Amino acid sequence: MKILITAGPTREAIDPVRYISNHSSGKMGYALAEAARDLGHEVILVSGPTALARPGGVQFVPVITAREMRQAVFQHFKKANIIIKVAAVADYRPMAVARQKIKKTKNTLTLKLIKNPDILKELGKKKGEHQILVGFAAETKNPLGYAKVKLKEKNCDWIVVNNVAQKGIGFGADDNAVVLLGRHGHEQLFQKQSKSQLARSLLEIITSHL
Ligand code: PMT
Repeated sequence: MKILITAGPTREAIDPVRYISNHSSGKMGYALAEAARDLGHEVILVSGPTALARPGGVQFVPVITAREMRQAVFQHFKKANIIIKVAAVADYRPMAVARQKIKKTKNTLTLKLIKNPDILKELGKKKGEHQILVGFAAETKNPLGYAKVKLKEKNCDWIVVNNVAQKGIGFGADDNAVVLLGRHGHEQLFQKQSKSQLARSLLEIITSHL
């Protein structure tokens, strides 16, 4: 099967030297890409900027911003059987990017932000009958409740719920603990384990339901 995976953060420029981003290291998405490759699937990995080595044996598409990620995803999505959106996409970007470095002359500085495209939501509207869409949800409060809303609103088949307020898992960690929710009521807890082990288990379940 062809599996399209997004990973890492996006960066949204404020000026030539500064940006808005988040703590995603790319580890979870890269672990999924490597596990999918090892299970014999063809993998396209669309990645925001990370410090990780590019996994061998996968098609690697580097991007920086949410809009670049959207473009890369839609370039490859039609041929994918499964799309897994692990990336922590910046929800907002600065409305205007200063052409020169902003000088610190004032005590306060207000940035006007504008919403980025919601790639997962667009995929949910455009996906074909036989395509499987997997979202991730990073939450700090009421993770299951918010994730169930995302599963429905973004028309996903599966959503992987990450309580990123918990120490030792989620952003930047080598381990993760998640709940996998399926559109037909599947609900399964995965206790803390390495991201590679978790990636393999998630893929086995998702592909076994095809
Ligand atoms: O990279 P690591 O350090 O290993 O950390 C892993 C992780 C914590 C980033 C990962 O497990 C995770 O939870 N990823 C989802 C992060 C996120 O942005 O969650 P969200 O709840 O804000 O977004 C929900 C879903 O919509 C995600 O699939 C996201 O890719 C997608 N989205 C969000 C915003 C946007 N503008 N477009 C999107 O497609």
